[in-house]
Formats: sequence, C-alpha cells, structure tokens
Amino acid sequence: MEVLREVDELCEWRDGRRIGAGRLGFVPTMGNLHAGHLALIDHARRRAESVIVSLFVNPLQFEDAADLARYPRTEQDDLEQLERAGVAAVFVPTEAELYPNGQQGLVRVDAGPLGERLEGAARPGHFTGVATVVSKLFNLVRPDVAVFGEKDAQQVAVIRRLITDLDFPVELAIEPTHRESDGLAISSRNRFLDEGQRQRAPAVYRALTRAAESLAGGHTVAATLAGARHWLAQQGFEVDYLAYVDDRRFEERDRLVEHGRLVVAARLGEVRLIDNLSVVGAGPGRPSASGESDR
Ligand code: PAF
Repeated sequence: MEVLREVDELCEWRDGRRIGAGRLGFVPTMGNLHAGHLALIDHARRRAESVIVSLFVNPLQFEDAADLARYPRTEQDDLEQLERAGVAAVFVPTEAELYPNGQQGLVRVDAGPLGERLEGAARPGHFTGVATVVSKLFNLVRPDVAVFGEKDAQQVAVIRRLITDLDFPVELAIEPTHRESDGLAISSRNRFLDEGQRQRAPAVYRALTRAAESLAGGHTVAATLAGARHWLAQQGFEVDYLAYVDDRRFEERDRLVEHGRLVVAARLGEVRLIDNLSVVGAGPGRPSASGESDR
C-alpha cells in the first residue's frame, strides 16, 4: 500500500497507474476507521479494480473548534487497517498541504440551500466545508467511483448535487448504514458515549423504526413525528430535529413521497447522534421502510 502525503506524490501515483489498470474507487474519510468505513472500502473494491482512501480531518466542515480538536486521530491504527483491507493507496495530507493558502479568503464550493436545511441549519457552513474538500479530492484523485455512507444522508444528497451541478465525471455509490446488534448506527462519535448513554443510544434508531411502523399503520406524518419526538424526549434525549423529508432536496414533506426518509439528530449529554431511515410512498398511501438505499 502506497502512503501518499503530498499532493505531488498523489498526482504522480494517479498518473502512473497504467492504462488498462481498470477503474479507480475512492473512499474519502476523516480517519478513525471502524467497521462502517471497512464496508465502504469493500463496496469500492466490488466496483473498481483498485481503491484509494483519504484520511483527512477537514477543518472547513467543523463550525466548533472544540469539536475539531477532540475529533479522534488514530493514523497508525487506520493505516494498519487499510493495509489489511488491501487498498492500493492512501492519501494522508496535512492541513497545510491541502490548503496551502490557509482558510482565509479560500474559494469555497457553496452547497446551496440543500446545505442549509436540517443538519445544515444545526451546523452552519458544514456542508460547504464538505463540498469544498470533496471537490478538491475529486480533482486530485480523479476516481471513477466514490463511495459514501447512507448514514450521512444529507451529505449524500449534497454530493449527488455536487457531482451533477459541477459535472464531476464520478459515479456515486452508497453503502447502507452499518449498525451494532442493538441497532445503533456505527459512528466515530459513539466512543464519546459513557456506559449509561451507550445503553440508551439505540433509542435513536428505535424512534425511527417506531415512526416507520406508525406510518405503515396509516397514521399521518405530523402525528407520527410528534409521537416520535415525544418518545425520544422521554428516553432522555434532546431532539435537534426529527423530520420526514424528500431525501434529494431535504425539504420536509407531510405526505409519503418517492424519496422519503425519516431523519433525526438528538443529543445525549454532549454527544450528538444522527440517523435516518428510508420510508417511501409505495402505492396509494402505503409506506415501505427499508434500511437500504433506494438509490
Ligand atoms: O463523511 C466524512 O467522513 C467527511 O464528511 C468526508 C466526506 C470525508 C469529507 O471530509
């Protein structure tokens, strides 16, 4: 596995891949790899002959300096996992390498209104930070296919628009959310949960599955969401949002729709958990819930 730390090294590696070397799959990450990331890499391996992964904690997408500072950095362990996973190369730039002119005055890729709703409203500037770094990485890596996790459903929506609106010649692939056996979505942030919080955390997913059952039982979207928010608050969560959206635009919908999705962000103490569940209108008024992407 090639460990590439400089942009020039990456470009040389990319250009040196022989013609006929096949498709290049790309998995952008912020490191601290877990089973969810390994599933993204597996997905990329099924879609491409070789896979490159990036490890970069992107400061642009953190609106809170303390959150950025405490983001877990586990490079040595990450590199060992990537070697075992059989990736061809890993790009590990420093901040100065990727943003040589600093953040002041940086030209950014605006994620548009899609980036301002729900998760974007809770984290102003977050999706513009994501769209900017992903654009840079796409330009540098030039992958044939890039894999993102369904857990970050609004990020997926932003990347889909980024690829379409800015004409990146990249195929978008989505890997379904990976969960612990009790339903908790696997995330780097789970390590911040104390023992009591960890026991309560699966309630986030349970709120989604209960809501999906309620919709399947014919209850309205409004009543279902009110019930789910109330139930989650009873479990000790502070609910940032729990909504039913069209997952292409991330606009709220009061009836079941083709690309419908329940999305939630809720806090347990200092730890903020997000999750989502596809619940699409299938036939006249009948919903179907699925953990799988409908993409
Ligand atoms: O999902 C992530 O880990 C990040 O948002 C990404 C896509 C690597 C961009 O920094």
